[in-house]
Amino acid sequence: MNEKQRKELNNQIKQVNPADVKSDQDNLERLKQKTSEDFVKYFQTTYEPPNINKARKRKREEVKYFNDFEIPEELQGFGNGKKFLMRTYGCQMNEHDSEVMSGIFTELGYEATLDQEEADVILLNTCAIRENAENKVFGELGHLKALKREKPGLIIGVCGCMSQEESVVNKILAKHQHVDLIFGTHNIHRLPHLLKEAMFGKEMVVEVWSKEGDIIENLPKSRQGKTKAWVNIMYGCDKFCTYCIVPMTRGIERSRRPDDIIQEVRHLAAQGYKEVTLLGQNVNAYGKDLEDIEYGLGDLMDEIRKIDIPRVRFTTSHPRDFDDRLIEVLAKGGNLMPYIHLPVQSGSTEVLKKMNRKYTREEYLELVRKIKKAIPHAALTTDIIVGFPNETDEQFEETMTLYEEVGFESAYTFIYSPREGTPAAKKKDDVPMDVKKKRLHRLNELVNQSSNDALKKYEGRVVEVLVEGESKNNPEVLAGYTPENKLVNFRAPKSAIGQIVKVKVVKAKTWTLDGEMVEEAVEVK
Ligand code: 5AD
Ligand code: SF4
Repeated sequence: MNEKQRKELNNQIKQVNPADVKSDQDNLERLKQKTSEDFVKYFQTTYEPPNINKARKRKREEVKYFNDFEIPEELQGFGNGKKFLMRTYGCQMNEHDSEVMSGIFTELGYEATLDQEEADVILLNTCAIRENAENKVFGELGHLKALKREKPGLIIGVCGCMSQEESVVNKILAKHQHVDLIFGTHNIHRLPHLLKEAMFGKEMVVEVWSKEGDIIENLPKSRQGKTKAWVNIMYGCDKFCTYCIVPMTRGIERSRRPDDIIQEVRHLAAQGYKEVTLLGQNVNAYGKDLEDIEYGLGDLMDEIRKIDIPRVRFTTSHPRDFDDRLIEVLAKGGNLMPYIHLPVQSGSTEVLKKMNRKYTREEYLELVRKIKKAIPHAALTTDIIVGFPNETDEQFEETMTLYEEVGFESAYTFIYSPREGTPAAKKKDDVPMDVKKKRLHRLNELVNQSSNDALKKYEGRVVEVLVEGESKNNPEVLAGYTPENKLVNFRAPKSAIGQIVKVKVVKAKTWTLDGEMVEEAVEVK
């Protein structure tokens, strides 16, 4: 998603009250003197706070596989007659975690609702990647205070990446006493027990394990749609890019067993799903931790492409681990979609080094050349951070030239946001915010122009669109994606939803295509 789209999305979410920010800052100053341990005395019930230092450490032997999730007998039917509301912030990993938590709620007997007035439990599944993501959540917590006052029985919970941060937990303890439950990314399977404690205990329940992480295979899932599905192939990240909080919030890189993944994809195909997206923070590292087999993402994709499911995607890639085997398999095409999201972050080798990205500008360009040679019609998109500490004008210009040289079709662009506990956050930064904003603005102009140029090439062409549903702005119009991940809007009977149909593109806009359906229900081999 680009800046413009992100802003539109932001407008739907309530922002932080500036007055709150000031008092938050005062409180935080006070709290700097305290550690989480100081809060232990207030708790009779579960209190296991996060610890970033512990989360940073890696001990591979501690990763375990489990297949034994079940709702304990005494909690069966616990949610009967009650409703839950889940708000999800951030990446696809969080979206999918929310599907798992919704699955657990459903198994407990809860029903989903979108109306917070009728919810018995409201859970915020949070993102820590940038400060503004966190501000949104604190803003939302502020708004929920009044609802909790009206309905004291309401359970308000915070989970996801923010819960893994000590400073966040301390801030909630100090400022948002109306929160009943905080739990981390490694504690999702404990939701039934934690809900019970939150409901019957007197104190706030805090359970955040700062561990490397396990794999629990049999967690239930309430998937959001019937057309596209997320499939986790691995968890965590060991790359430790110097700006990024994820290795601390999501634990060590750990891969699911190939058989478990293949079985899940087969099952989804049998259920009629048309597309799967293989998910991981760094999917190209898939298999590296499996000690008994030599098996990587290329091998996995080579098996998945034989499954009778029309579309297969994967995200997110790290250039460093993107190997020739994967390129060779992707070139076989078929149900492997010609779309690669390949975050570059910067076009300057010096900045990449400071970011600990472990590749140079030239190595990235070489990888792109290889990909384009093997898959000439592949659409490439990327992530870029501008204003990394001490980024010079020249270094920023290198990002601009790299963008054009690669010919990216779109990008998610961000201003660097310091995250507590990461190495980059300790650096002094001589780039003023207005310079960073100007750089972002210039980059976005290039991104917009390139997106429009890429879309213009589709005018007059017939494309295959997997129809997902009605367009947000106009229910008369249906919307779906091409293999290259371009969003197409067109008029068609509702029966086309969930099908792959042929659409003639009549007009390219900045981000989307307008078309006319020419043929319903394409047979896909
Ligand atoms: N500041 C700004 N952007 C960040 N990202 C990750 N950490 C930060 C940060 N501290 C961006 C990267 C990554 C994307 C998911 O978010 O571009 O690829
Ligand atoms: Fe963060 Fe880098 Fe890991 Fe991506 S690869 S999640 S940016 S540390």
